[in-house]
Amino acid sequence: MSASTSPNLIAAVDEARQWNRLMEMAKLGAITGSDGEPGVNRACLTPLDREARRLLISWAEKLGLTASVDEIGNLFLRHEGTEADAAPILTGSHMDTQPSGGRFDGIWGVIAGLEAVQAIREAGIATRRPIEVVAWTNEEGGRFAPGCMGSMAYSRLKPSTTWDGVADPEGITFRAALDAHLKEEADLPRRPLGGKPFAYVEAHIEQGPRLEVEEKDIGVVTGIQGSRWFIVELRGETAHAGTAPLSLRRDAVQDMLRAITALNALMTDPTDVLRFTVGRIEVFPNTSNSVADLVRFTIDFRHPDKELLITNGDAIEPTIRSAIKNCDVTVTERFHALPVEFDALVTDAVEDAAKAQGLSSIRLPSGAFHDAQFMVPICPTGMIFVPCRKGISHNPAEYSTSGQLAAGARVLAATLVELANR
Ligand code: GLV
Ligand code: MN
Ligand code: MN
Repeated sequence: MSASTSPNLIAAVDEARQWNRLMEMAKLGAITGSDGEPGVNRACLTPLDREARRLLISWAEKLGLTASVDEIGNLFLRHEGTEADAAPILTGSHMDTQPSGGRFDGIWGVIAGLEAVQAIREAGIATRRPIEVVAWTNEEGGRFAPGCMGSMAYSRLKPSTTWDGVADPEGITFRAALDAHLKEEADLPRRPLGGKPFAYVEAHIEQGPRLEVEEKDIGVVTGIQGSRWFIVELRGETAHAGTAPLSLRRDAVQDMLRAITALNALMTDPTDVLRFTVGRIEVFPNTSNSVADLVRFTIDFRHPDKELLITNGDAIEPTIRSAIKNCDVTVTERFHALPVEFDALVTDAVEDAAKAQGLSSIRLPSGAFHDAQFMVPICPTGMIFVPCRKGISHNPAEYSTSGQLAAGARVLAATLVELANR
């Protein structure tokens, strides 16, 4: 029997400990959803985020893991291998949430990484390669857009200064927030940005309904669809709502409606595979009896097919320009993640681990983006999904059972041991 299928390892994953840690974390930024569900609002680089990180570090240090932080705030907790210089296995996810987020998106992948490493240590299994649990900076993009800044910087897709000027709704820039954050964590050892992991595995709730509907324990994630984010700014002229004739107005709200109607036509997809979302609209001066002179709205467009992602994404700006009547427009792309396929080294290890533990699994792609998307170019990468109730996510109603999460952590533990001994 290999170490990765050892009953000791599986038994050492402690369902209650993992659940209790998740519930402790959920207190940091706790909110109540419209139907009374217990959600979380924990934006990145805030005092709450730091409190959550300190809590995580306190658990990890008790185990004997070493914490370190890089220049963009990615946090690493290292378990040593028997060969200190061997390329590590990286596992983890993110600790930030959506403004109206749940208790599991992101944070479970980090807690599961810790649980898996704790189980490996408690089962007395030595791994050849080190294992590092990572909490990536700003995956959600809720406070500072876009998401996945930490993993994009780590994988060298973008320099870590790329987003310095991006401001949150209060006007605080990412650079200012990051500098303040790094100052608060100046006592933690600093590590160089980037690295050469042997492999990356991320555990996450599915955020869609398939595993629950098909009654499967584990999703072996095959890849992630592509995403493109844009911000559109329409500038017109403000005027008196009671006196300015419609024919003379340059009304930014009316041009926004023309733009979105035309985009809906562009994005029509009878197969229902394409995803198109306008999730944020800002209107200025935002008063009922003045014509709007400025509207800013976001576009989140996703598709698994690279060609379609490029063609339709590139058509967004011309479509808006030909739809609007008399406002000035700027369209800025701020996130461009091509579809990725995961590596058989990781997907097979995940599938084998599930099978060896008597868990049912299916292979499925991810509709959500994840930090794993940006690890694909630098190392063999894969993800483990567990079911979540009704597929609900980015919502306080997000829920997975303690048992489903424990099964995911057991598969993660076995996968990590398998990869760390290669
Ligand atoms: C990640 O949160 C996403 O929007 O897919
Ligand atoms: Mn997530
Ligand atoms: Mn999310």
